[in-house]
Amino acid sequence: MRTYKLSCLVTVIVITLSSAAYAKPNIKVLATGGTIAGAQASTSQAGYKAGTFSVDDLINAVPQLKDVADLSGEQVANIASQTMNHEVWLKLAKRVNEVLKDNNTDGVVITHGTDTMEETAYFLSLVVKSDKPVVLVGSMRPATAISADGPANLYNAVSLAASPLARGRGPLVVLNDDIHYAREAQKTNTTELDTFKSPNRGRAGVMNTGKIEFFSENTTQHGTKSEFSVDGKAPADLPRVEIVYSYENLGPEMIDDLVKEGVKGIVLAGVGDGNSTDAAIAALSAAAKKGVAVVRSSRVGSGLVVRNVEVNDDKLGFIAAMELSPQKARILLMLGLMITSDPAKLQQFFMEY
Ligand code: SIN
Repeated sequence: MRTYKLSCLVTVIVITLSSAAYAKPNIKVLATGGTIAGAQASTSQAGYKAGTFSVDDLINAVPQLKDVADLSGEQVANIASQTMNHEVWLKLAKRVNEVLKDNNTDGVVITHGTDTMEETAYFLSLVVKSDKPVVLVGSMRPATAISADGPANLYNAVSLAASPLARGRGPLVVLNDDIHYAREAQKTNTTELDTFKSPNRGRAGVMNTGKIEFFSENTTQHGTKSEFSVDGKAPADLPRVEIVYSYENLGPEMIDDLVKEGVKGIVLAGVGDGNSTDAAIAALSAAAKKGVAVVRSSRVGSGLVVRNVEVNDDKLGFIAAMELSPQKARILLMLGLMITSDPAKLQQFFMEY
């Protein structure tokens, strides 16, 4: 009798362990729209409407996903990402945080347009408080195109979100078999499939039909170590920060107007090493003296803007964007200004995040 009971117990343990071993990860797909959900009027047309298909359409189009993970989908928005806005960002950040808190969820995939994917990814890297995988994915060709890239990208994204290798790295961007850290990812080509690059630090890794190889760790502050939060915030709580693009003969007018309108921060998309015309630099310095946070970044697309190299930041009251592109510097400045308006503390954020 004792032997019988023992053997029953062993059987139960073995069944439990083996079903745990074979249980597929639970992945939540949060859809926001973009070309990956887009449709053309005809397959030979270049034009298309982003955000046409629903999250269930996207999942059902790739039956192989069922072998990788147990999926559930949710439509957070269905927009082309050029119209991404604070409202959707806050809704998305809230949902990602909620979903990842659930013990039954192992990771999140966010389908998103490629135009502002790097901005959403970086924003989420600063406000999502979880080590579980978060993967942003899109496509360069609409779902109805000849040789659409969305299905393979989605397969990679789900495989990545389902993998323990993706834990603790902050949101990742995956497209065209390349994996990028949110802070590094940058769209660099208007139409080509190989558009996302990580110009300063190189891509985080590569994928091939779900097989993952990481090349580096994410050593910058993000996720559970980030001090930023948008919990309980409304769109109007995010301070207004604008970007001024520098070019030959830029005058002070746009900068002066922004200050008059009451912006809290200005990011300079400067020429070269974050520089601009004498008139623009003088206007920016006047803005800084009035308490507007002024960050110098560069329009070049790669490289660092370091303090006091070409411009005397100490004297003029500026903050150097370090590795951040103007569009990412704007996000860090918005979140930073929710904590402090002290330029020295803001500069520290740009050193760490
Ligand atoms: C968009 O960003 O929504 C349009 C472009 C794209 O997804 O590639």
